[in-house]
Amino acid sequence: MTITLNINGQARTIDADPEKPLLWALREDLGLRGTKFGCGAGLCGACTVHADGAAIRSCQTTIADAAAMKIVTIEAVATTDAGRRVTDAWIALDVPQCGYCQAGQIMSATALLAATPHPGDEDIDGAMAGNLCRCSTYLRIRAAIRQAAG
Ligand code: FES
Repeated sequence: MTITLNINGQARTIDADPEKPLLWALREDLGLRGTKFGCGAGLCGACTVHADGAAIRSCQTTIADAAAMKIVTIEAVATTDAGRRVTDAWIALDVPQCGYCQAGQIMSATALLAATPHPGDEDIDGAMAGNLCRCSTYLRIRAAIRQAAG
């Protein structure tokens, strides 16, 4: 079935099963491989993207549902003010270790700052609780979000 998605401000038409997870449409059909597969079950946050500005799990979102929303991926996150501040802070504080989960971390952090420009520790912990990091970069993640908030 032909489905048109709004990805990073562009209309992108693909031919795929409407039940296909957005994660795999991004990676396989659109070549946007910055969004990562971790668990495929909505548990790790590696696949986080924005849908109408909110952080969502792309492994748990069908392309039929995604077609109704504006999707932003890690490839375009720095085009927004909050996303640029977050990515700048991530680089300045050298947050990643292995890096695998970091695209999802940045997407969740950006959605947080866009909605809550000056988050407290509870806001940060709440927004980031669903993004797991096997290297345990959590302290640097929190510091980077604080720096991005200014
Ligand atoms: Fe989607 Fe883990 S890959 S939450």
